[in-house]
Amino acid sequence: MVARIQALKKEKNAVILAHYYTLPEIQDLADYLGDSLGLSKQAATTDADIIVFCGVHFMAETASIIAPHKKVLSPAPEAGCSLADSATGEGLRRWKEAHPNGLVVSYVNTTAEVKAWTDYCCTSSNALNVVRSLPKDCDILFGPDRNLGAWINHETGRNMELWDGCCCVHDEITSEMVQRKLDEYPDADVLIHPESICAKDPAILANPRAFFYSTAGILDHSIRVPKKRFVIATEEGTLHELKKRSPEKEFIPIAPNTICKEMKKVTLERLLETLETECGEVKVPEDIRQRALIPIERMMSL
Ligand code: 13P
Ligand code: SF4
Repeated sequence: MVARIQALKKEKNAVILAHYYTLPEIQDLADYLGDSLGLSKQAATTDADIIVFCGVHFMAETASIIAPHKKVLSPAPEAGCSLADSATGEGLRRWKEAHPNGLVVSYVNTTAEVKAWTDYCCTSSNALNVVRSLPKDCDILFGPDRNLGAWINHETGRNMELWDGCCCVHDEITSEMVQRKLDEYPDADVLIHPESICAKDPAILANPRAFFYSTAGILDHSIRVPKKRFVIATEEGTLHELKKRSPEKEFIPIAPNTICKEMKKVTLERLLETLETECGEVKVPEDIRQRALIPIERMMSL
């Protein structure tokens, strides 16, 4: 299957983009493996004719918004995201109406319709930069992740209004779990994704061995810091690349079931079928696409 996928990729001038949360065999096959920001950048710059996006639906949709003249294919078009599902375009429009002076900053984990009502997009890699770039006296409506929003408020000293959404995987990463690991492994740093519910806890935020990062930031820290052990408080797929980059280090998952089942819907079989049939194209209606592109381009230019 791997040989066939590679041959088809060449024959059709296709590129395979994969998120760190996909299955290890998909990560190993990807031309580019990245977090949400890295993958958006790749979609914007690739010269391939076909982008096969191994991730969840909003990610393929974002690629299609950025690169409308490319064919964007999803091996698992039904793969959703609890966070993206927690906000609708209509809901956001009403929120905006209730706060007419507010600027809307939306996490990239949103549908194209929500992006169409958004002023600035961000990912977990650049959220602090995006919010810090906005005038200090303007009101900000941040959505849909309440935990990431609370963490940005803490880090920037802002008081953004927060949408009440969450990622069903990271919302299970509690302060108690993190504290237990800090106690159990006194020599380890705990690297935490800010979508986690513990990102709201002042005690964890103040702990000198607890660090909050995007997926790419977690990887950077684990390579840069000369410790032997790290506790990883994010989706378990990340461990594959962490171990590859630092085989001499030990990575301890925060819990055995921190798994995004939607991301695992992309399998080798489905990837091969997608390249063979070119089914699963993800397209956004042109009027929505043009509006959704504006906040993404603002983010990219920052
Ligand atoms: P990043 O890719 O920005 O780290 O976000 C994590 C995530 O949950 C993606 O769905
Ligand atoms: Fe969505 Fe959470 Fe899965 Fe990321 S890990 S795709 S935010 S449900």
